[in-house]
Amino acid sequence: MSTAVRFHDQHVDETGPSFRDDVIAGLGRSPKALSPKYFYDEQGSLLFESICRQPEYYLTRTEEGILAAAAEEIAALVGPESLLVELGSGASRKVRLLLEAMRPTRYLGVDISRDFLLQSTRRLAADYPWLEVHAAWADFSEHLRLPAGVEGRRVVAFFPGSSIGNFAPAEAEAFLAELRRALPRGSGVLIGVDLVKDHDLLEAAYNDAAGVTAAFNLNLLERMRRELGATVEPGNFRHRAFFDVEVSRIEMHLVSESRQAFIVDDHHFEFAPDETLHTENSYKYSREGFRALARRAGYRPDAAWCDAEGLFSVHYLSHD
Ligand code: AVJ
Repeated sequence: MSTAVRFHDQHVDETGPSFRDDVIAGLGRSPKALSPKYFYDEQGSLLFESICRQPEYYLTRTEEGILAAAAEEIAALVGPESLLVELGSGASRKVRLLLEAMRPTRYLGVDISRDFLLQSTRRLAADYPWLEVHAAWADFSEHLRLPAGVEGRRVVAFFPGSSIGNFAPAEAEAFLAELRRALPRGSGVLIGVDLVKDHDLLEAAYNDAAGVTAAFNLNLLERMRRELGATVEPGNFRHRAFFDVEVSRIEMHLVSESRQAFIVDDHHFEFAPDETLHTENSYKYSREGFRALARRAGYRPDAAWCDAEGLFSVHYLSHD
């Protein structure tokens, strides 16, 4: 029993592109685009937690309801004494719904936001003294390997929140296939997937009345100012989110209110009026559509749970 968190720094590999490199490349492209992983600096992680509490954002509370109701069933599928790995652990709140029923030996939270990861895993370690808690500061979209010394015969990769929706379907399939190669046989993936539904409901979830999603989106520009000294004026942009039926995804953009120019680390960028910076895709699936994708990635889709209204789904994918 221990309340200390074992910290694994997997971010030391600085060979990949940085926020700066990706901003300069993304703003230089046509159409302009940036990866949604850059939303999650400390400020962005807090704004995201706030999004999850907005009444329009049905995803979080619906998934939590499903997990709470299915915890025993999930635990029976997984078996005891597993290593539970949470990808994009954020506030590590959802996993609490599973711990008592599942009784894993070890928990590993993986997140890109360092301080946030440390705070939330420390709270988890304090609240569950019987659990061995590890934290890996890593970009799991780049490295999927487990930190040295954190093994488990049976691993459950917990990927909640429909974060898989940030990948296009072909990328999601490739990501899941790679994840499978990182897991020993007998492991599984417990994954939350948002479902296609009424377009008004979908669009409302990304356009909350309190403006939190707008602030989350605009925080990308604030982050460019804070970290890169960019001269961009966030007030000259507005948030836009809409559902594209053809590709079954929510798109988020930052829309330029006027013709404008700014500088990021000696690079000059221009926006025409109404030109956008594409900041996020969030793909929505049917239950069967996602199960088919999981099969193509090499899994056996074992069980799937859904809320009564069919808003959200949670899947257990076996690697046997
Ligand atoms: C964390 C990717 C699942 O797509 O719903 C929430 C991020 N963006 N509101 C989502 C997000 C705007 C969220 N995911």
